Amino acid sequence: MKKLLAFLSLAALGFAYQDCAMCHNGGMAKKLDNMTPAEIVKKMKEFKAGKGNPMMVNIAKGMSDKEIEEAAKKYGKK
Ligand code: HEC
Repeated sequence: MKKLLAFLSLAALGFAYQDCAMCHNGGMAKKLDNMTPAEIVKKMKEFKAGKGNPMMVNIAKGMSDKEIEEAAKKYGKK
């Protein structure tokens, strides 16, 4: 629980953006490289609209569309 709170406060500060891998390769959430960048962008836009996992909603809201596309390219299927 403590760990979760730490993650949430990081996300709230907008820190988490650089590090999708912090959660997604750290065993907390599924790996992103199973998804194509287009699928990631689509999901992120849903999160940004307030749908889905509250942690991701928080992160997505702190990102511009450009940042989302860059992150999707960086972390998505190569
Ligand atoms: C603070 C931890 C954390 C960080 C940082 C984080 N995520 Fe997530 N993410 C989650 C959790 C928890 C879920 C929901 C559980 C799951 O789908 O594995 C999730 C779900 C997702 C999903 C939906 C997966 C699916 O199949 O439904 C996508 C896409 C995603 N995250 C993308 C990202 C991107 C891109 C970043 C970096 C900009 C990021 N996440 C950073 C915790 C995080």
